[in-house]
Amino acid sequence: MLDLLVLGSGIAGLSAAIRAADAGLKVTVLTKGALSNTATNYAQGGVAAALSEPDSPALHRADTLDAGGGLCDIEAVDVLVREGPRRVRDLMALGAEFDRAAIDGELELAREGGHSLARVVHAGGDATGAEIERALVAALDDHPGIEARERWFTVDLILEGGAVVGVTTIAPDGTLQEVRARNVLLATGGAGQLFAVTTNPPVSTGDGIAMAYRAGAAIADIEFMQFHPTALDVALMPRPLLSEALRGEGAVLRDENGEAFMQAEHPLGDLAPRDVVARAITRRLVARNLAHLFLDATAISDFAQRFPTVARAARAAGLDPESDLLPVAPAAHYLSGGICTDLDGATTLPGLWACGEVACSGVHGANRLASNSLLDGLVFAPRAVEAILDGRREPRATGVLRGVLSAVSRQNPNAADMRVSDSSVGGSITLGSLQRAMTFGAGVLRDAGSLTGVLDVLPLSLPAETPAQYELNNLVTVARTLVAAALRREESRGTHTRLDFTEQSTALLGRFIHLNGYETSFVPLVTHSQPPADVLLTDSKRLSTEVV
Ligand code: SIN
Repeated sequence: MLDLLVLGSGIAGLSAAIRAADAGLKVTVLTKGALSNTATNYAQGGVAAALSEPDSPALHRADTLDAGGGLCDIEAVDVLVREGPRRVRDLMALGAEFDRAAIDGELELAREGGHSLARVVHAGGDATGAEIERALVAALDDHPGIEARERWFTVDLILEGGAVVGVTTIAPDGTLQEVRARNVLLATGGAGQLFAVTTNPPVSTGDGIAMAYRAGAAIADIEFMQFHPTALDVALMPRPLLSEALRGEGAVLRDENGEAFMQAEHPLGDLAPRDVVARAITRRLVARNLAHLFLDATAISDFAQRFPTVARAARAAGLDPESDLLPVAPAAHYLSGGICTDLDGATTLPGLWACGEVACSGVHGANRLASNSLLDGLVFAPRAVEAILDGRREPRATGVLRGVLSAVSRQNPNAADMRVSDSSVGGSITLGSLQRAMTFGAGVLRDAGSLTGVLDVLPLSLPAETPAQYELNNLVTVARTLVAAALRREESRGTHTRLDFTEQSTALLGRFIHLNGYETSFVPLVTHSQPPADVLLTDSKRLSTEVV
C-alpha cells in the first residue's frame, strides 16, 4: 500500500512528494497532464520571503495581513512568514537558481504590489515558476522513491469509514482504475477556467476542490477569486501575464488618454495591492466601454534581459515594450479560497491533505499578496508531510480549522438543505457558456442581479464519462459555491466587490463554509492570542521600512 498519493505536480505537490520520499515513504504522484503542465510553470514574479535585512517576517506578515482584507488567519500567516525564508533556501539547495546581482552575487529582490519593500526572489528575470518546476521535476526524476504517472485523470476520492483511502482515476488507456493509499494529498491548483479570460493553463479546472467537496470536506473563501490587473489584452488563452514586477521596476498604468491614474486610487499608487488595481482598471473599462487600458513600461532599461518572458509575449503581439504602451485588462488568476486545512494541511476528512492553491489555509484571506502563492505551497507541503510522518490522520483545531471544525460538527444531517442547488437540476451547460456567465456575472464587479443570473444557468451537476466532461462538472461545482458565497457576502472585501454593497461589514468578518448537502454557512473569524514576538510589527519597524 502506498504511504502517500499526491495529486498534482506544481510546487506544492512536488515539494511534498520529494520530502516524503526523502523520509522513506512510498510515494506516487498522479497528474492529469504532463508533469510540468502546471500553473507553477507560468508564474512570473517570484517567491516572497523575508530573506535579509531590512526585511523581516514581521514586515512580511504586516503586508500579507494588509492585503488580505481582514480575513487572513493570523496563525497561518505567522507560519508562512517565519518558515518562508528557510523553505526558499531548501529550494535553492535542491537546485533552483534565482537571479543574483552581478556585483556581489547577492540574491536580487524585486518589489510587487502590496509589498512595503523589495522581497521577491525571481529566476530567469520573469520565468521564476519555470525554473522552480524544472528544479523540482529534475529532483523527482532522480528520486528512486517516487513513481510519477502522467495523464492519469482523477475522478473522485474513495471514502471508507469516513476516511479517504485512495482515488478512482481514468488511466491513459481509458480504463477506470483505483489507486489506494494511506494518505492522499491534493495539490491540484485553482480554477481559473471558470472565467473566459484567465492567466491559468487549461488544466486549472477546480478538480481538487470539487472532488473534496463531493467527498464531504469543508471548503471556504471561494468567492475570493483574484483577478490579475495586467494581463496582456491579446486573443490568446491563457492570457500572457505582465508581471507586477514591471510596476516594481517603474512601469505605470495609463488610461486611454495616456493619464496615469493609480496615485489617485491608493497611497502605494501603481504598487497598490492587486484587488485595488484590478478594481480601478475594471471601473474605467466599464464606465468608458473600453476593452483595455495600458501599461507603460518604456522607462524600464534592459527590458528584454530583466523580463524576457514578457518581452517575447509583447513581440509576438507586434509590440515593442521599450517604445509601445501595452494593452492590459484584468484576468482570473488565483483562487484565494479552497479546501479548509489546519496549519499542517490536514482537511476535515481523515487521510485527506491539501496544499497550495487548492487549499484554504487562511494565509491569503480575501486577497492574496503578490508572490505569496509559490511560498504557500513551499511552506505548507512539508508541514503536511511532517504530520503524516508523525502518524497523524485527523485534523486539528488550528489555523482556519479552529473555527471550521466546530461548525462542521454542528451540521445536522437531517437538516440538509439543498436551497442553493435545487433550482436547476437537470440543466446543461457548455464550457464556453459557463465561462461567459461567470465573467459577466461573477467577475471583478458583481451585484445580486448579476450573481443570480449565473445561478439561473448553472446546472446542479452534469453527466460525465470523459476527462473533459468531469472537468466541466467540477467547474460547475466550484461555480455554484463561488456564486452562493458571493451572494451571501453582502459587502465589498478584498477581491469580492459588490456594486450593491460597497462597504465592508463587520458582521461579515468570517468565512462562508460549504459542505456538500448543506446550506452555505457562515463562521465568524476566530481571534488569536498575541503572536510570537519575532513576527510582531512594532510601529518603529513599520516606520523605518516605509522610507526604504
Ligand atoms: C506576477 O508576476 O505579477 C504574478 C505573481 C503572483 O501571482 O503572485
